Amino acid sequence: MIKDTEVVSVQIDGDRYHDTRHARVETDHIWRKTWLLAALESDLQKPKSTVTFDIGHDSIIISRANDGALYAYHNACTHRGTRLLEEGVSSSPLITCPYHAWCFNLDGQLRGAPDPNSFTAGLPGDRLRLKPVQLETWQGFVFVNMDRDAAPLSDFLGNMVERAAPYQIAKMDLLEDQTVSVDCNWKAMIDNFSELYHVDHIHPQHKRFVDCPNASDELFENGHTGLHVPGFVTDSRYPVPDKPTDYQEMQLTALGIDASAFHGRVADIPAAITQAKREQSGRKGYDYSALSDEQLTTVFQYNLFPNIILSGSPEGLWMMRSRPHPDDPSKSYLDKWTLQLNPDPALGGASEHKQTMHAASGNSEITNGRVARDCFGHEEILSGSKSMTETIDQDISLLARVQAGARSSGFDRAWLSDQEVRVAHFHDVLNETYHKAGLIDAS
Ligand code: FES
Ligand SMILES: [Fe+2]
Repeated sequence: MIKDTEVVSVQIDGDRYHDTRHARVETDHIWRKTWLLAALESDLQKPKSTVTFDIGHDSIIISRANDGALYAYHNACTHRGTRLLEEGVSSSPLITCPYHAWCFNLDGQLRGAPDPNSFTAGLPGDRLRLKPVQLETWQGFVFVNMDRDAAPLSDFLGNMVERAAPYQIAKMDLLEDQTVSVDCNWKAMIDNFSELYHVDHIHPQHKRFVDCPNASDELFENGHTGLHVPGFVTDSRYPVPDKPTDYQEMQLTALGIDASAFHGRVADIPAAITQAKREQSGRKGYDYSALSDEQLTTVFQYNLFPNIILSGSPEGLWMMRSRPHPDDPSKSYLDKWTLQLNPDPALGGASEHKQTMHAASGNSEITNGRVARDCFGHEEILSGSKSMTETIDQDISLLARVQAGARSSGFDRAWLSDQEVRVAHFHDVLNETYHKAGLIDAS
């Protein structure tokens, strides 16, 4: 694991952001060897439900079969390879290939094929079942691993398991499901969510509700990282304002606290928020018993190697995933699930979470009882017709330029600050793979 003092020496060249050899190595040694976030368990509650997850040229089907168990297998027909299901959530008792109509049970077994007598070698079930993939669940999410010999998910997650445990992530409901295509390599997106160095410059609103200079970074085994940012406060680089900022006022009001009582006492707001959350938790149906006072006012973020960003607060979460474009390393997709811990309606509590930075952007349509997935290009964010919230829109509006510069002959390698230690850690782990593949001299 990287030490803080080694940050600047980590090699981050421009090639890895556009070179097809790097992309090929990532496919063979990362995407096909690592536990990957594939689906929401809530989309697979009922038997006959299926979700497809596309990563590069691979596509995985996750299904809840009639026996109640979850299965994962490649989305490739064992007859001649046709992709069986389109990307997305669906429900069907069987999977029928659109080409010659081979039919598979939801556990991946071949159920039947037209004109079976024309197969002189027969239709052996073991050989012709859909190629299985490892599957495990964690905190309401389904993870898959194409490597049949991979160690269990809990080994891979390591410290993440205990870090996430106090939060009620598995109880959160999906509020919004968005995918944006962006003109940058998938790692540029992860880099962006691995440092706060850019925040004061491109997210000027953050100074009104979080204190980035007092954030703490954590580096974990397997390339995972953590971040904790004090919330409900203003940025300590700037003078404390005389009265609550607009964000703080919204946050206080959502908890029924009179913001005007904090004129001249802005530094007291986090303690008041903590007290109000504790007092109101029972009535609102929240359970904060496993969380410390500090956790009640802290924004957390955990990046799970290689491509997951889990950012939230006790009441809500952005679960984001950066996926490579199958053919062009200079393009990628960012998936964002906005999840919210809803108060128990029987207790009549209203959520204050809509007022926080992890709120949804508010454009969700409901189809078949689930928010519809909204897919769009980054141009639509630039034009203002789509939004993934102000903060992420600001990031996305810049990433094509980051990609363009990193690809030019004028860029050799990154020169990092100690505020970018999580970027360094991510690439330090990547470099082991690139080094073994002969793409760089030393890791
Ligand atoms: S390719 Fe699927 S049935 Fe022929
Ligand atoms: Fe950002």
